[in-house]
Amino acid sequence: MAIGEDMISGRNIILTGFMGTGKSSVGRLLAERLGYTFIDTDEVIETRYGQAVHEIFRDQGEAAFREMEAALACELGAAEKQVIATGGRLMLDAPNAAALSRNGRVFSLWATPEEIVERVTKDTIAVRPLLAGSAPEVRIRALYEERRVGYARFTPVKTSGKTIAEVVQVLLDSIAALEA
Ligand code: S3P
Repeated sequence: MAIGEDMISGRNIILTGFMGTGKSSVGRLLAERLGYTFIDTDEVIETRYGQAVHEIFRDQGEAAFREMEAALACELGAAEKQVIATGGRLMLDAPNAAALSRNGRVFSLWATPEEIVERVTKDTIAVRPLLAGSAPEVRIRALYEERRVGYARFTPVKTSGKTIAEVVQVLLDSIAALEA
């Protein structure tokens, strides 16, 4: 189903989900299709604070990074017509979820732990501090178990076996149904 600007309310679309589920790639294309601004929270933080996420973790600690995410969640919740790809834990913190849900529809992208291991270990661009060190697959499985209930609170979208364009189409159809 095609979706035109006149059909939509302008509410933000928030993408959450585990690292490697495709939030940024899907979000970028979805924003293009909706005529919305695309925001990647990790990228905004990196630009704003002048350091890569893994450097922030290393130099200032994870708690400082989580505060940066919380401040950004409040800001973004005040604007509209944005597709927001959130860092993997941002929406699991209740105040962030509240700030962004008020004016947004939230979808969680899902992939199996096996696919996540394959995607993140192949990703040579994003350095993920929580998966640093040996045996990232062990960390991924542990974190996945810890977080799955949190992600399950949002409307799920399976990405397994789908291309980015196919996931975007699923999202466009869901948004159109919600706006109808
Ligand atoms: C994190 C996910 C990362 C980034 C940071 C922490 C997490 O974002 O925010 O490394 O706790 O899941 P992606 O989900 O975009 O990889």
